[in-house]
Amino acid sequence: MKYLYILLCLSLMACQQNKTADPDKNSADPHSYARPAEAVVKHLDLTLEVDFTAHVLTGKAEWTIANLAKADTIIFDTRQLRILRVTQGEEQKETAFVLGKDDKYLGQPLKVKIDPSSTKVTIWYKTTENSAALQWLNPHQTAGKKYPFLYTQSEAILARTWIPCQDSPGIRFNYDATVAVPPGLLALMSAGNPQQRSVNGEYRFKQPHVIPSYLMALAVGNLAFKAIDQRAGVYAEPVTLPKAAWEFADMGKMVNAAEKLYGRYQWGRYDVLVLPPSFPFGGMENPMLTFATPTVIAGDRSLVSLVAHELAHSWSGDMVTNATWNDFWLNEGITDYFERRIVEEVYGKEEAKMQEVLGFESLKETVEDLGPKNPDTKLKGNYAGRDPDEGMTDIAYEKGALFMKTIELAAGRERFDKFLKGYFESHAFQSITTEEFVKYLEENLISKEPELRDKIKAADWIYKPGIPANHPPVNSEKFNAINSIVSRWKAGIDVASVKGRISTANEFLYFIKALPDSISADDLALLDKEFGFTKSGNSEIQCVWYTLAIKHKYRPAYPYIEDFLINVGRRKFLLPLYKEMALTADGKAWAKEIYKKARPNYHSVSYNSIDDILK
Ligand code: BES
Ligand code: ZN
Repeated sequence: MKYLYILLCLSLMACQQNKTADPDKNSADPHSYARPAEAVVKHLDLTLEVDFTAHVLTGKAEWTIANLAKADTIIFDTRQLRILRVTQGEEQKETAFVLGKDDKYLGQPLKVKIDPSSTKVTIWYKTTENSAALQWLNPHQTAGKKYPFLYTQSEAILARTWIPCQDSPGIRFNYDATVAVPPGLLALMSAGNPQQRSVNGEYRFKQPHVIPSYLMALAVGNLAFKAIDQRAGVYAEPVTLPKAAWEFADMGKMVNAAEKLYGRYQWGRYDVLVLPPSFPFGGMENPMLTFATPTVIAGDRSLVSLVAHELAHSWSGDMVTNATWNDFWLNEGITDYFERRIVEEVYGKEEAKMQEVLGFESLKETVEDLGPKNPDTKLKGNYAGRDPDEGMTDIAYEKGALFMKTIELAAGRERFDKFLKGYFESHAFQSITTEEFVKYLEENLISKEPELRDKIKAADWIYKPGIPANHPPVNSEKFNAINSIVSRWKAGIDVASVKGRISTANEFLYFIKALPDSISADDLALLDKEFGFTKSGNSEIQCVWYTLAIKHKYRPAYPYIEDFLINVGRRKFLLPLYKEMALTADGKAWAKEIYKKARPNYHSVSYNSIDDILK
């Protein structure tokens, strides 16, 4: 019997080796080994046990599958997992499986032998200490300092490091989960969530809508809930909860504004979970439960557009999803545009315009950095053979949003809004490619008024590098005023000319970025005395100010910079600071010293990027 089993494994391996010669044969997604045209997942029953002592998840992933081609094998993506046992069928019959060659980004294909009629595959597994999606925090790394914390970050291709799955955004499934955690802690997922702790530490979840794997999410910690309105609320550690709930008080209004713009919110509840500061992103649009960095809690609601952004993903991203990571701009570009429309509704036109300008300025910088002919400046990306994370640039976000704005201006707001609403409705809970978007645009907007074709020039935006010449003008009166103040400075800075003239966080941000290169450490001291930038509670301002302080050797800010780097894990802030430090020998030595203390506080997404800078 044992002999037969080994023989079966060997023959499966041999037959699979032939097939891997062309890994993309049936799949247009270069970042997944799955072959959904042959055998594809439909539903997941997940059981997880969370062990905070060993830092291990022990899991059972029970996949309901459709064997479309009556194939003898189904392929899953895995990385940094220990696969213990695999069965097929309701009766959980032992079946042969083999793990293929390990790729740095893609991990290993898990090839499971199935019968043509098989509808179920069950995988028993454990995560490892390397599982990149997971960050295990000790009590000291949390706000309350008393309980450990665990959270996942699955986008783009890290879901496979905590669940064996078909890890492509083009493949959707719904899920039920049972999660066991130490009593006293709360578990939350990208699904219907508990609002209170359970007595025994067991929690059940249901996500009825089909979602792609990158939206699988779990967080476990000493968490409490506070309602904002009937359907929106905030989760955070108890010490953070009052501040968080105050900061996000407009969440309910944002959901209402979004619905008014582009159709019903389809997910039921909309909650935000505020994570410990090591969270590597600003926000992550996990369905029903946005994960957010505490660095948006500025104390004056000035950074809450992040919630508008993650909320907008409930339509563009979670409901209508990029089919592959080469279509990432469909997720982020449309969301960025949508975010500003929500901001305009809730906070007014001028606020939205300022954000547009800040976005456009950083888009121009990105295009300059990458080079205007660089293929990575096309909306349609090509990240085959690379980490799709590399596509997380202003191209997808800001060039994508500017393209949407171009269409809006060409067609008129009313018609464009109708178009976008129709786009969400007709593609709800589907994953689509850039080409499908282009076809939909052609059929539902352009063909009805052919002059739009030349006004929009969709192919230029999508398939050509750089910023097309037909981009709409982007400008803000408030920022223009700042430009004229700064340009009037002749000999050095004139603090008095700014005093009382700028007041909002966006204006300060723009002002700091507009400061001339010739500025000295003494000038920075004068500005600091007047505006207190070094001790700012606004993380966006801290990031640009600290970058400037490093560049111009403004030493009074150094202890604050060190503190910021040790406590904050948000990659967007860490990268510019470490990069600026790494430009000089002294700076690099200083950076390395700080990094020794700070690295244990970072998620893998952040430290993998910074390791490269400080090599
Ligand atoms: N979905 C992204 C985060 C992401 C992108 C994670 C790619 C992994 C790979 C999220 O919606 C996002 O864009 N977050 C931004 C904030 C936003 C306001 C622009 C961030 O984290 O900075
Ligand atoms: Zn986003």
